[in-house]
This record gives sequence, C-alpha cells and structure tokens, in this order.
Amino acid sequence: MTKIEKIVLSYSGGLDTSIILKWLQETYGCEVVTFTADLGQGEELEAVRAKAEMSGVKDIRIVDLRQEFVRDFVFPMLRANALYEGQYLLGSSIARPLIAKHLVGIAQEVGAHAVAHGATGKGNDQLRFELAVNALDPSIKVIAPWRQWNIRSRMQLLEYAEKHRIPVPSDKRGEAPFSIDANLLHTSTEGKSLENPAEVAPDHVYQRTVDPVDAPDTPEIATIGFERGDPVSVNGKAMTPAALLTELNGLGGRHGVGRLDLVENRFIGMKSRGIYETPGGTILLTAHRGIESITLDRAAAHLKDEIMPRYAELIYNGFWFAPEREMLQALIDQSQAFVSGEVTLRLYKGSASVISRTSPCSLYSADLVTFEESAIAYDHHDAEGFIRLNGLRLRSWAARNRR
Ligand code: ARG
Repeated sequence: MTKIEKIVLSYSGGLDTSIILKWLQETYGCEVVTFTADLGQGEELEAVRAKAEMSGVKDIRIVDLRQEFVRDFVFPMLRANALYEGQYLLGSSIARPLIAKHLVGIAQEVGAHAVAHGATGKGNDQLRFELAVNALDPSIKVIAPWRQWNIRSRMQLLEYAEKHRIPVPSDKRGEAPFSIDANLLHTSTEGKSLENPAEVAPDHVYQRTVDPVDAPDTPEIATIGFERGDPVSVNGKAMTPAALLTELNGLGGRHGVGRLDLVENRFIGMKSRGIYETPGGTILLTAHRGIESITLDRAAAHLKDEIMPRYAELIYNGFWFAPEREMLQALIDQSQAFVSGEVTLRLYKGSASVISRTSPCSLYSADLVTFEESAIAYDHHDAEGFIRLNGLRLRSWAARNRR
C-alpha cells in the first residue's frame, strides 16, 4: 500500500467531522486539507475556519457554491420534475456530487491522493460521494472513517473528543442529536424519535417552514418566469439561481409549503424515516409542471414522465456522474427548448397551486378546445372514426368474453 501523504476532508466544522479530522491526522500522520462548501446551509462559516485552524489545519478551503449548486445541479434536476419514490425532492442527494466534484478538484490541485468524508456506513451519502469520486478521478482513494475506525457508539465518540480536547458543545453532550442535513434546497432531519415511523414528528424538527395551521389566513400570489425550463424571475424581478431559490424558500416557508414526512427505501437496503422541508423546491416543481403543461407536446411530456422515476433513482443512488444519467439529462434538456413563460401560483396554508400560466411558445389553443363554435378546422366525424378504430379491439375482446 502506498503511503498517503495528503488528504482532503469534506469538513462541516461539526462535532463528527472535527473528530474525523483529528482521527485522520493521527491515523495517517499526514497533512489534512479541509474543504467546506457553502451550499446555503445557513451556518456561520467563519467559525468553521477558526475550528479548523485550532486543529492545526494549514490549508482551509471554504467555498461559496450556492450559485453552482442551484444552477448546475438543482435546476437541471428540476427540469426533469424529479421525485424519488413519488415524493422526495432529493435535496441531500443532489448536493453530494457537487461536494465530491470540488473535493476531487482540490485533491488534484494540492496533489492529494485521498479524500475523506463523514458519511456513515448505513446511509446513501457514502455511495453518492464515493461513486462520484470514482467517476471523476479513479486514481483518488476515498477514506470513510465511519466504516474504518472502531468507534461504535456515541459514547465512544464523545470519549474520543474528550481525550483529544475537541470541544463538545453542550447540546451535543447528552443523547445523540437529530441528524440534520441542510442546503438551499432542503433541510432533512433523521434519527432519534423519528426512527419510529409510528411516532408523530415533534414540532421542533421543522426549521424552515411554519406549521400550515399557523400560516397566514390570506393567501399570497407569486409569479415565476421560466426560460428554457429554468426559473429566472419572481414577480417580474430577474434573479440569479441562488437568489431565486432563496426568495422562494422564504415565501414557501411563511406559508408552510413543502413539508414531507417520508419513509423511503435507501439504496443500501433499509427503510428509513425522515422529515424534509423543501419550500422553494416544492413551489418550483409545481410551477415547472405548470409551464410544461402548455409548452410541451403530449408525447414529449409523457416520455419525460416515464423516464423521471429512473432519473430520480439514479440521483438518489449516487449516479449523477454516470453515462446513463447524462444520456437522460440530454433528453430532458432537449425537451425544454420551448419551456418558457410565466406561471402564477397561490400559496396558502401548506399548498402551492397553479392558478394561471402564459407562454409565448404555448401549444394551447382555446380555438381548438372551445365548447363554442370555432374557426379552426376540426371535423367531428374524425373523432367518430378515431373512436371506432380504437374500440375495434375492445369490441372483439368483449365479444369473446361473453362467449
Ligand atoms: N435520506 C436522505 C437521502 O438519502 C437524507 C440523507 C442525509 N440527511 C441527514 N439528515 N443526515 O437523501
């Protein structure tokens, strides 16, 4: 085995990754470079720098990836209307390949042959990190301390921290806290009482949405502009991808939009229960379907819907950087050429509903569909023949069944 001389660690500054940092320095006796991505998780990132410095890290990377996250990961995914198992907007899943991409980039830049992450051995995130690293640079080794060290309990983790003088915040001293993952797209909470799916989630797990019951009694109207499948404005104001999602998170959060209490199937093989809050993402999914409803041809829309579960599963399972995801993405992106226009939604007590849509590229024809007399040539007799031929096999089938 070649000796590892430098490791780039995905570092949040939290207790777990602080312990991992120490453990890597001790176990490998080498320099550890820390990388912290600002994905809009809303944490104080200068405090992260101070913590890394205290642990003797020389090369500390804190990078604002909010724009790249939303523009190159969240929006392409939303073009597909991606939902895992019909409900999950993939807020954690889509962040991992981006973090992995930058881990690899920094490793290449500083000549590190290994990267490390703090994902546990039971979750999906380890797969997402590692499959992405494999795809981006097969020469880089991945170190997953949670699978390697012999810390097996929270008690042992706290003991390790104590022994190495890693400060343990008072709220982390008692029982294990919730496992929380937050970024501009969502907050996900797992663990503790949530591990019992029969138990109702306590109110305090919700961080960025109000309880719909407490949301304003007056609805709020918001108009979202789309260009080629991507949202570009809110209420007529053009915004960058990150600013737009931030704005919609605020709007949705105030109206209790985007809460989800879900039992999902992890790739690794077990079921898990989590609470998700995706206010802006939920608004965007609804709005995007709204603009597609008038701009996409029927067969194109249905084909997208057929491949969507497959595409979502690829992202969930960690295959963002994989040829089949890129192939599906090309199909999805091509479908979006005319997905432009505006959608107006009403936000009210937990719901986001489309109330109107317009597009310069609309396929909708009031003239064609109208119940009134229409100028457009539409021969009602064509419908008769159409039904007669479609019914042909049904008539044969029914006649046979009667015999
Ligand atoms: N179960 C979700 C997923 O696999 C979230 C995982 C990370 N969340 C967390 N609270 N640790 O995408």
